[in-house]
Amino acid sequence: MDIVEFSIERIQSLYENTVDYNLSDSGVHPYSLRELLSSAEIEKLLDVELGYGWTNGGVELRQSISKLYENKSTDNVIVTNGSAEANFVLVMGMLNAGDELVVVVPNYLQMWGWAKALGVKVIEVPLREENGWLPDLDELKSAITAKTKMISYCSPNNPTGSVIPTEMLTEIVNLARQYDIYVHADEVYKGSELDGNEGPSIADIYEKGIATNGLSKAMALPGLRVGWLCGPTEVIERAWHCKDYTSITTSAVSEFAANIVVQPEKRNEILARSRTILNENVAMLDNWVKAHHENYSCRLPQAGGMAFVRYNMGINSTDLVHRMREQRSIMLLPGDCYGMDGYIRIGVGAPKSHLEAGLEQLAEFTKGMNN
Ligand SMILES: Cc1ncc(COP(=O)(O)O)c(C=O)c1O
Repeated sequence: MDIVEFSIERIQSLYENTVDYNLSDSGVHPYSLRELLSSAEIEKLLDVELGYGWTNGGVELRQSISKLYENKSTDNVIVTNGSAEANFVLVMGMLNAGDELVVVVPNYLQMWGWAKALGVKVIEVPLREENGWLPDLDELKSAITAKTKMISYCSPNNPTGSVIPTEMLTEIVNLARQYDIYVHADEVYKGSELDGNEGPSIADIYEKGIATNGLSKAMALPGLRVGWLCGPTEVIERAWHCKDYTSITTSAVSEFAANIVVQPEKRNEILARSRTILNENVAMLDNWVKAHHENYSCRLPQAGGMAFVRYNMGINSTDLVHRMREQRSIMLLPGDCYGMDGYIRIGVGAPKSHLEAGLEQLAEFTKGMNN
């Protein structure tokens, strides 16, 4: 199968663990198991039997996840290894060569890459900075044809941190309903909104809405590798059909922890921690951008652990990122990974001291470079 390199993931995997200051992540600085669980829970964890469980996820966990949505049951949910696998089984289960998929870009580009490799025609609808990184509904409408099977967007968005407002979501749903097509939303950053206003899930406002979510980003637990899909039963059934072929089950250890963290009280506690970290760090980034406005500008993120910062130095984003890594031991993500040179993605979910040091170094490194 011909598939393009997933450069967002590859560049991070190659270098993020080799630097002193990793500012390339998009989530919130993770918990350790010790920080996350009480001693009684850790004691219980030691008794977890390391069996297989269910290929669509444990019943108890699916029940708890379904309660995060409105009027959903265990049949509306499949648990996966990270939201990456959720996206994967969705593409494999729902799309065929010759179908059309409308993808709002920039985004994580995983659905985009898989669909293309399968022979699906991918139609891009761009987010523009001057529109607050929100989609233009006329452009979205004109991207739809008789072959369109699904619209896919990511909100809160990777890499810009923009959040599609509820009124606009309603318009997207009305449009999709008119053409009877599925709408998929990658909502893995949902819950990390800086103002604490968590908007509705696509799964709750559209009968053909499918939500990807998981514990890696807003929930700051990427090492658990727990994600899920929530959507119509026929979609979940198709996704399960594929999941049996991929990883069989998620880990029993992760499911144990996931069962604890998706309970409303614990979830709220985790999300409050994420919001505190992000609000402090985004304020710091804002001050930094203002202080270095000759080189940088940024429409600040509304959610998520990343800011998409535009720069006006005459240097390619990948070159800049590699030079920062080699000479300053700081890892950023180049806009090139999204086909958007002239931007860098800066992780604002990193520990404050790391962000502070990274920004200081970046300013010093690029001083005087502006065109
Ligand atoms: C929008 C989005 N979806 C999915 C993923 C995959 O994350 P995970 O598999 O850890 O849940 C990422 C990772 O960066 C992401 O940004």
